[in-house]
Amino acid sequence: MTAYHQTGFGEQRPVSNSANHSGLAGPVDPRPFSQSSAIDGSRMSRVPDNEAAWLPAKHAKLEVKAASYRSPGKNEIVVKNHAVAVNPVDWFKQLTGNLMFSWIKYPSILGSDVAGEVVEVGEAVSRFSVGDRVLGHALGMSKERNTPAEGAFQAYTVLLDYMAAPIPNAMSYESAAVLPLGVSTAACGLFQKDYLALQHPSISPKPTGKTLLVWGGSTSVGSNAIQLAVAAGYEVITTASPRNFDYVRRLGASQVFDYNGKTVVWDVIKAFNGKTVAGALAIGKGSAEPCLDVVHACQGNKFVAMTSAPVAFEGLPDGGGMSLQFIALIARLVRANASLVLKARMRRIRTKFIFGDSLANNEVGRMIYVDFLSKALADGRYVAAPEPSIVGHGLGCIQVGFGVQRRGMSARKVVVTL
Ligand SMILES: NC(=O)c1ccc[n+]([C@@H]2O[C@H](COP(=O)([O-])OP(=O)(O)OC[C@H]3O[C@@H](n4cnc5c(N)ncnc54)[C@H](OP(=O)(O)O)[C@@H]3O)[C@@H](O)[C@H]2O)c1
Repeated sequence: MTAYHQTGFGEQRPVSNSANHSGLAGPVDPRPFSQSSAIDGSRMSRVPDNEAAWLPAKHAKLEVKAASYRSPGKNEIVVKNHAVAVNPVDWFKQLTGNLMFSWIKYPSILGSDVAGEVVEVGEAVSRFSVGDRVLGHALGMSKERNTPAEGAFQAYTVLLDYMAAPIPNAMSYESAAVLPLGVSTAACGLFQKDYLALQHPSISPKPTGKTLLVWGGSTSVGSNAIQLAVAAGYEVITTASPRNFDYVRRLGASQVFDYNGKTVVWDVIKAFNGKTVAGALAIGKGSAEPCLDVVHACQGNKFVAMTSAPVAFEGLPDGGGMSLQFIALIARLVRANASLVLKARMRRIRTKFIFGDSLANNEVGRMIYVDFLSKALADGRYVAAPEPSIVGHGLGCIQVGFGVQRRGMSARKVVVTL
């Protein structure tokens, strides 16, 4: 029989033996799932039933329904998801229709963050075997991949093997699921050549003598940006609400300021006195403007990498359509963007909006998931942050999770167990 790829679908239950349901590693079943139980006539009957939380149409609520199971391509793995996390972009897409991710066709499967066990590997994959516990960035919503099989919100997700990393034994699936899009987005802004182009992270960083500004350090993206920048040899100055000052310091920030404080911009500029700025990562609504002010006043890299639109989508009505609120929001968005561009140009500061999946198309994706994260997680130097906030079990809870996150989270990430 020809061995096309390794598969976990034998007569016995596949690989759930490698992890108990709490998500912590348990004893590994010694029975290997043979390389040969691959694509042959009988395999199709063993393909598992998949189901997904589908976004059936523009502005519609998620619906849990059957989904087809796709076997991995050459450089792909299939993961049986045990925990998935919700990101603002998921409910932004639902609320705003085709304003963003206009390439996504309906019905669609959203979601970027998965943690689970490998059930099939493609023929060119050597990093993973069936039964491995992994976290991964699901790319179904990205323009380049754009396919429901690669969305997170389903039982089985197809991942590019180099966008996944092993989960250490002591880390639960729920914790691991908080990482992928936060890590990826931070890495895009910090390390891509057309963004801040920082020195790459390692488990024994060489100090650069430079300082990075992370505006919004307690966000999910910020929690990862702080850790990545410190691992790359930078000092980090950040902002957060006072309740999260200790949290961001524990992640490695040297100084933290309240972004709601009246003198925050001035305070941050003073903190940079005598330092060389490595640039700024602006996270959260309204974060780009103060970052421009700080970078303008400092010596060093005059670059602001931006993750967030300058307006909030939270208040848009459910159900969509051309409401007055929606039109007013678009007008505010256009005005705020124009003002940012003008301010940056006048001060000769470069700015660029981040797409958190673009690292999959360049060397940064592999550098993060293959070279850095695998070692740094195993080593305990990199932690899964923020803490997961588990809103329920089953795909039906993902829509609930959208609502919970939309109402606001503080240094927590919405996670659904599967
Ligand atoms: N461009 C991309 O590809 C991409 C990808 C992922 C996320 N994003 C964007 O990045 C932002 C953060 O996403 P996330 O998932 O990391 O969010 P999150 O963790 O859900 O954000 C919650 C945190 O936001 C902080 N926050 C609220 N308003 C803020 C402000 N004005 N300035 C700074 N921090 C503020 C709060 O901090 P305190 O509790 O300390 O007040 C809270 O801890 C969002 O705008 C999201 O849309 C963009």
